[in-house]
Amino acid sequence: MDCFYRSHLAFICIFIWSLALFRTTDSGSITWHEPPPSETVIDTAITSTTETNLTKGSFNEELSCNFSLTADLSFETVSFEFDGVTVASYAKGRYPTVADRFVSRFNVTWVPSKLTLIVFKVTSDDKREYHCRAQGYSSSHGLQAWLRMIKVDVLVQTQITNVTGKTVTEGGNVTLKCLAEGNPTPTVMWTRLSDNRVVTMPLTNIRRQNASVGYRCTANNGVKSPATRDVFLDVQCECYNL
Ligand SMILES: *[C@@H]1O[C@H](CO)[C@@H](O)[C@H](O)[C@H]1NC(C)=O
Ligand SMILES: *[C@@H]1O[C@H](CO)[C@@H](O)[C@H](O)[C@H]1NC(C)=O
Ligand SMILES: *[C@@H]1O[C@H](CO)[C@@H](O)[C@H](O)[C@H]1NC(C)=O
Ligand SMILES: *[C@@H]1O[C@H](CO)[C@@H](O)[C@H](O)[C@H]1NC(C)=O
Ligand SMILES: *[C@@H]1O[C@H](CO)[C@@H](O)[C@H](O)[C@H]1NC(C)=O
Ligand SMILES: *[C@@H]1O[C@H](CO)[C@@H](O)[C@H](O)[C@H]1NC(C)=O
Repeated sequence: MDCFYRSHLAFICIFIWSLALFRTTDSGSITWHEPPPSETVIDTAITSTTETNLTKGSFNEELSCNFSLTADLSFETVSFEFDGVTVASYAKGRYPTVADRFVSRFNVTWVPSKLTLIVFKVTSDDKREYHCRAQGYSSSHGLQAWLRMIKVDVLVQTQITNVTGKTVTEGGNVTLKCLAEGNPTPTVMWTRLSDNRVVTMPLTNIRRQNASVGYRCTANNGVKSPATRDVFLDVQCECYNL
């Protein structure tokens, strides 16, 4: 009797164990395609992470969440969120919608199986962590949700804010400084206008004649076109000191 009872128990244990094994191996998965890189995730507790760039001041820039679910899952919903708030979403059989408070900033489109957030005009405010949440249903697991974090950086075209150091006393040296802003940080280069040659600072032993020679600062960070600013030295006569 005891023996029968034990083997019975063992059978139940094996049955439950195999059921658990069946459940873990049978669960579907999602593959995130866009933004790149592609990544396949089974465990719904894992948040996939990727990055993308938008450019400040650009109109109708797109942020896409393209994914595919395995065949055992039927697609249900997908949404864009940030700070825990839904910005835009699409549910099977409906129209994609933008949440009321965001209609002035975003539009959304859906083509299977890609949700695209359209940013009307990119501002610094769009630099944040967006989440794309996709849900699928399977008869064995019910509704399952996967999350992908999209870190959005907002690139800013280079702007030259000021040029300093152009004043020099005759016979002296001068270091022109070009102050440039942008994201990523721009690199700055100086050239002489007369022959386009690259010059390195400081410029030494400046004479009165040098005042008529212009210099160009070119600042570039690869976002849209570089910025330039031309300056002429302001050579002050030594005789002032006499
Ligand atoms: C989504 O990504 C896949 C894989 O890169 C691609 O084949 C498919 O065309 C994309 N879907 C859309 C709607 O762009
Ligand atoms: C975003 O821009 C930075 C700076 O230009 C660049 O290094 C990075 O590769 C870009 N990232 C993507 C995903 O395009
Ligand atoms: C949003 O996109 C849809 C589909 O492309 C378009 O019909 C609609 O006019 C757009 N809405 C706005 C406010 O741009
Ligand atoms: C530019 O730099 C000069 C010299 O340092 C300074 O006097 C001037 O106020 C600056 N201009 C701006 C707009 O910052
Ligand atoms: C200018 O620079 C040169 C070369 O570096 C140096 O010999 C000279 O003393 C400097 N002149 C002044 C006024 O600082
Ligand atoms: C200043 O002018 C003199 C004479 O024209 C020239 O030889 C010298 O190279 C010039 N210096 C700079 C820094 O342009």
